[in-house]
Amino acid sequence: MLHLKLPTDPRWVGIAEMQIEDILVDHAYCEQKAASSCISLILRFNDLDELVDTLTPIVAEEWGHFERVLEQIRKRSMKFGFPRKDEYVIKLNEFVKKGGSRMQQLTEQLLMNALIEARSCERFKLLSKNIADAELQKFYYELMISEAGHYVTFIELARKYQDPEKVNQRWQEWLTYEAEVLKNIGIRGDRMH
Ligand SMILES: [Fe+2]
Ligand SMILES: [Fe+2]
Repeated sequence: MLHLKLPTDPRWVGIAEMQIEDILVDHAYCEQKAASSCISLILRFNDLDELVDTLTPIVAEEWGHFERVLEQIRKRSMKFGFPRKDEYVIKLNEFVKKGGSRMQQLTEQLLMNALIEARSCERFKLLSKNIADAELQKFYYELMISEAGHYVTFIELARKYQDPEKVNQRWQEWLTYEAEVLKNIGIRGDRMH
């Protein structure tokens, strides 16, 4: 359903489980970035009613996820700490087409967000199925469902504001690029992506 072109290396989840503190901290910042990017879209495309009305509750949801990850960190007496350099998002950002029409720029942002949701969803599923901590299993299962919904929402929004054929074509390019990015980053147990 996610259409990702490169499945996560099955070794990742074992390494991630051993570094779960790093994963949780990185994850908290992923949720913060998800909320922030929706806020940016709302401010930048404030004239698009459906986009504003669709993304506003997602901001609240992502911030709710941030709060829940923070709660897991506190519960385990882990340290929240500073954000880490997000190589994955930096690389994805490099693929965003500069220029073009305003709607083309919107498409780029929506597809990038959809991709991050899809990959997060895939990783949350791996965590929910494979880690020993029962509470985190359940936690990641719930978040997986939520991020899958966001993934669909971003794609649908893109298809609403731009020719769906063009969106589909560009989506394939994004998927191919993302697979390449992930392959080059390799397996990191201290990062969600
Ligand atoms: Fe989230
Ligand atoms: Fe999300």
